[in-house]
Amino acid sequence: SGENKSYWDKYGHYFVSGTLITLALAVVAVLIGTTLGTVFALLKLSSVFVLRAIGNIYVEYVRGTPLLVQAFMVFFGAQVLGLNLSAFASGALAMGLNSAAYVAEIIRSGIESVPNGQMEAARSLGFTKNKTMRLVILPQAVKTILPALGNEFVSVIKEGSVISVIGVGELMYQTSVVQGASFEPFVPLIITSMIYFVLTFSISRALGFAEKRLNR
Ligand code: ARG
Repeated sequence: SGENKSYWDKYGHYFVSGTLITLALAVVAVLIGTTLGTVFALLKLSSVFVLRAIGNIYVEYVRGTPLLVQAFMVFFGAQVLGLNLSAFASGALAMGLNSAAYVAEIIRSGIESVPNGQMEAARSLGFTKNKTMRLVILPQAVKTILPALGNEFVSVIKEGSVISVIGVGELMYQTSVVQGASFEPFVPLIITSMIYFVLTFSISRALGFAEKRLNR
């Protein structure tokens, strides 16, 4: 009977599905974020003024406004445009657009961290600008870019909690469902914080391990 069911039997599935959706949201967001972020990084590094301006305006605007506001803007903006986006699609898109601005900065600073002499040396050996970028600069930049992208994935997992406001059934959303169903607001939060921590801590550890191996 109902009274004898354990907490896990009653509410476990909310936490499980919330965790899976949180992870799915983060994966899609980081895929969108790295793709668009690469484009915006290249715009910011462009020698064409207009392109540089577009890259700068996007990055500054997105980083200078709250993800919460952006999530609502994408959700209701899609409706205004007559697009029939699901809550998940809106949420993943909002987070991807948000992450792109941070990824653009990661990639730009990664590329700029490679000493100028590398470009000059390759150019003086007769490499074109493009070839130097691909064969000399990027392979070195990747060493700083990849670990930072890993940290970005961890950030996006945590920031995804904001997306609950547009009704995406991720972990924080399911937490409020359990709070309501159990008439008990605190315990679900302890469980949820532990789930977030296990996710972020294990991913950080795995990334640190992978980084060490890459550097060997
Ligand atoms: N907390 C920030 C905000 O509300 C979002 C930060 C997103 N961070 C990230 N690296 N994607 O705007």
